[in-house]
Amino acid sequence: MTGVIERYRRYLPVTDRTPIVSLNEGSTPLIYSPRLSALVGEKRRVFLKHEGLNPTGSFKDRGMTVAVSKAVESGARLLICASTGNTSASAAAYAARAGVQCAVLLPAGKIALGKLAQAFVHGAKVIALDGNFDQCLALVRDLSTKPGIAVVNSINPDRLEGQKTAAFEIVDVLGDAPHLHFLPVGNAGNTAAYWRGYCEYHVAGLTNRLPRMFGFQAAGAAPIYYKKVIERPETAASAIRIGNPASWGLAKTAFTESNGAIDIVTDDQIFEAQRWLASQEGVFVEPASAAATAGLLKYCKAGNDSPLKDLPENAVIVCTLTGHGLKDVAAVLERGVEPIKAAPTKEDVLGKLET
Ligand code: F0G
Repeated sequence: MTGVIERYRRYLPVTDRTPIVSLNEGSTPLIYSPRLSALVGEKRRVFLKHEGLNPTGSFKDRGMTVAVSKAVESGARLLICASTGNTSASAAAYAARAGVQCAVLLPAGKIALGKLAQAFVHGAKVIALDGNFDQCLALVRDLSTKPGIAVVNSINPDRLEGQKTAAFEIVDVLGDAPHLHFLPVGNAGNTAAYWRGYCEYHVAGLTNRLPRMFGFQAAGAAPIYYKKVIERPETAASAIRIGNPASWGLAKTAFTESNGAIDIVTDDQIFEAQRWLASQEGVFVEPASAAATAGLLKYCKAGNDSPLKDLPENAVIVCTLTGHGLKDVAAVLERGVEPIKAAPTKEDVLGKLET
């Protein structure tokens, strides 16, 4: 399989002169979810777009291949980004691949360890700030005018261009756009990117419909939902702990134009959905990634009071799972899981199996 630039070149801002920096990202599976489908209702089909299966374990790789290729083309020597973890892991990997330097600005102590390890192992300069993600991003914006530096956050339009390819892949597999699309929202770039992808395919005559877009923020970090900047965003889903999203306006347009909505889920609902996906469907995602599924599960319980009520009979719903569960194992282990202790004997193990 090729990466997303080779696959969708004609929709992307690259030319023959662009040096392609790729790790064969994209082409992630669209996994049918029998149990979610049953919950939503007879003849309804729910699919999980498992973006945790990208090369660095998150959807960021789609945008990073385009952003880094374009940055190298323009002669950048240092890539820089602010991150809640996944962007930094992806930037570090693509920078290593391209042979350029990378520096990542992270909120100290607020990054899942798997992501931090990725940034280190790929050779990035890791700078931990005594502040939150929004402050890191403000600093990156300040540094962006320095010559030779390329910002690879989603304020770089090449990132969203790459990320829209996820919508293309969904349509390529389903033969049309889904009726509803659910995804987690942090800095809000991915929402904007999916909407752009669906619209471009629609204009190209490749879909009959456009999906309604539904985004989910963590209740303690929900600036778009509450329509105000949150100075101290709080959620255990560290990837989406963001109080002032960079793509706020674009995401708002996506929700409005698509007749969708921004909504919230509590941390408890997020962790419940994470465990539900892992134990019911065999799919392990990081907490933030479970926010969309938490939203869908919430709507399943809401009955007539939810967007599921006017769905056509054969409706298709897609939930984006943004990052792999192994990125943040502490999120699971800290929630009181204990192995059952046993002596190394058949009798003891059998005894434990029976209790
Ligand atoms: N899910 C995961 C796993 C993420 O890492 C992010 C964002 C999101 C969802 C939200 O996507 O920002 O496009 O609305 N992570 C960024 C980062 C902020 O720095 O890794 P979004």
